[in-house]
Amino acid sequence: MNDKTVFIKTYGCQMNVYDTMRMKDVLAPLGYVAVEAPAGADLVILNTCHIREKAAEKVYSDLGRLRPLHQAKADAGGRMIVAVAGCVAQAEGEALRRRMPIVDIILGPQTYHRLPEMVTRVLREAGHTECDTTFPVDPKFDHLPLPGGEGPSAFLAIQEGCDRFCTYCVVPYTRGAEYARPVVSILEEARHLVAAGAREITLLGQNVNAWAGEAPDGRTWSFGRLLRDMAEIPGLGRLRYTTSHPRSVDADLVAAHRDVPILMPFLHLPIQSGSNRILHAMNRGHVVAEYLNTVAALKAARPDMMLSSDFIVGFPGETEAEFQETLDLAKAVGFVQAFSFKYSPRPGTPAAIMPGQIDDAVKVERLARLQVVLAESQAAFNAACVGQVMPVLFERHGRYAGQLVGRSPTMQGVFAKAPAHFMGTICDVRIVAVGSNSLQGVVDGVTDERKAAE
Ligand code: SAH
Ligand code: SF4
Ligand code: F3S
Repeated sequence: MNDKTVFIKTYGCQMNVYDTMRMKDVLAPLGYVAVEAPAGADLVILNTCHIREKAAEKVYSDLGRLRPLHQAKADAGGRMIVAVAGCVAQAEGEALRRRMPIVDIILGPQTYHRLPEMVTRVLREAGHTECDTTFPVDPKFDHLPLPGGEGPSAFLAIQEGCDRFCTYCVVPYTRGAEYARPVVSILEEARHLVAAGAREITLLGQNVNAWAGEAPDGRTWSFGRLLRDMAEIPGLGRLRYTTSHPRSVDADLVAAHRDVPILMPFLHLPIQSGSNRILHAMNRGHVVAEYLNTVAALKAARPDMMLSSDFIVGFPGETEAEFQETLDLAKAVGFVQAFSFKYSPRPGTPAAIMPGQIDDAVKVERLARLQVVLAESQAAFNAACVGQVMPVLFERHGRYAGQLVGRSPTMQGVFAKAPAHFMGTICDVRIVAVGSNSLQGVVDGVTDERKAAE
C-alpha cells in the first residue's frame, strides 16, 4: 500500500493528546503515516479545543493558514483532505464549514473511530463532505485498536464526559455525558502500553476520579480499587491520573494514596475560586473548607503529596473582596503548579448570560496579581528541591547532546546528563540548580529494578 501522510495538530487538554494518538492508530491500517508539518500532507486534522474563546478562534486562523497549502497540493495534482475534530467541531458542526469551506470532514470527540470510513468516502466521491457530531450509544472505545507504542510515559483514557455542568464550562456539551470504561478494557490497554515500553501511565478523564466501572466479577469497582489493581501490573513504575474533581475525592481514594507507592505524590485538583459565593455561582458543588479538608486528608495519607490547581478570575459578579479570597486560598495551599485563566464567556453556558460580567481590564489585572502569588509558591517549592535526591523517569532527549529530560514525582521537568540507554528508566537524580521552569540534576544511580538487573 502506498504511504499517505497525515498531519494532526492538537489543541487543548491531555484528552485531546490521547485522542490524537488514537486517530493515528485508526488511520494506520489505511496507510497513513504521521508527519510533523502540514505542507504536502494528504490529510490534515485539527483536533480542536472549545474551552475558551481564544482557543476556539485559533482554529479559524489556522484553517486560514492552511488554504495556500491546500491550493499548493492541488496545483501539484494532489489533494489535501482537511478534517476538524475535537470540541470546536462538536460545538459548531456544519456551521464550521460555512465559515471555512475547505473543511471536508467534521467529527466530534466521540466519533473518531469512524474516521477511516469518512476519509474513504470523501476520497471516493467528488464533492462529498462528512459531518458526524453524534454521541453514539456504542462507545468508541469498543472500536479502537490497541494503541501503538507511546514511549516511557503514556496516557490512558478511562473516563470521558462530564455530568457536573459548571456554569462556565462547555465540556459537558462537547464531550457529552460521563462514560466509564469497563475494567477489562482498561487493564488490557494498560498491559499493552507497558509491554510497548511505558513505565508510567496517566489515567485520563474530564472527571477522572468519578470513574466507577464494571469489573469482571460483575461488581462496580471504585476508582481507588482500580488504582490498586493497576499498581499490580508488572513493569509499571508510576501511576498518575487527571483531571479530578474535589467532590469525587472519597475516603477510598485517599486510602489508595496511602497504600499504593507507585501512585505519585502529586494531584491536579482544580479549585477555580477561593470564594464560596463564586463557587456556588459556578455550580462547583463544594465550598472552600471542604476543599481544604480534602487537601489535608491527602497530605495526612501521603505526607509528600503536592497539589496543583486551576483558577478562573473575573467570573461574573466577582468582587475585589472575593478575588482577595482566591489570593488567600492560593497562599494558604501553596500550590506547586497552577493554571490560571481569565473567565471567557462561552455561548450556551449559563454564566455567559449572568449579570455582572467583568471588564477585561479588571480580569487582566486580577490574573496578573494571582499569577504572582502562584509563581512565588512554585518557585519556593522548586528552590527547596535543590540538594535533594529524587527519582526521575527519563522520557525524552534534551536540547543538548548527552542530556535527558524527565519528570520528578511531583511533575517538575528535570534535566540531567545521562547515557541514552537511561531513557525510559527511573534514576536517582540529585538536584543541583533551578531553572525558570525546571530543575537541573546529576544522576546519582539507577533505581530502576529492570535496568539494574542488566
Ligand atoms: N474537568 C476539569 C477541567 C476542565 S477545563 C475540571 O473539572 O476542573 C480546564 C480548566 O479550564 C478548568 O479547570 C477551568 O479552570 C478552565 N475553564 C473552563 N471553562 C472556562 C471558561 N469559560 N473561562 C475560563 N476558563 C475556563
Ligand atoms: Fe467543566 Fe466543571 Fe465538568 Fe470540569 S467538572 S469539565 S470544569 S463542567
Ligand atoms: Fe478543550 Fe475539549 Fe479538552 S474543550 S480542554 S479539548 S475537553
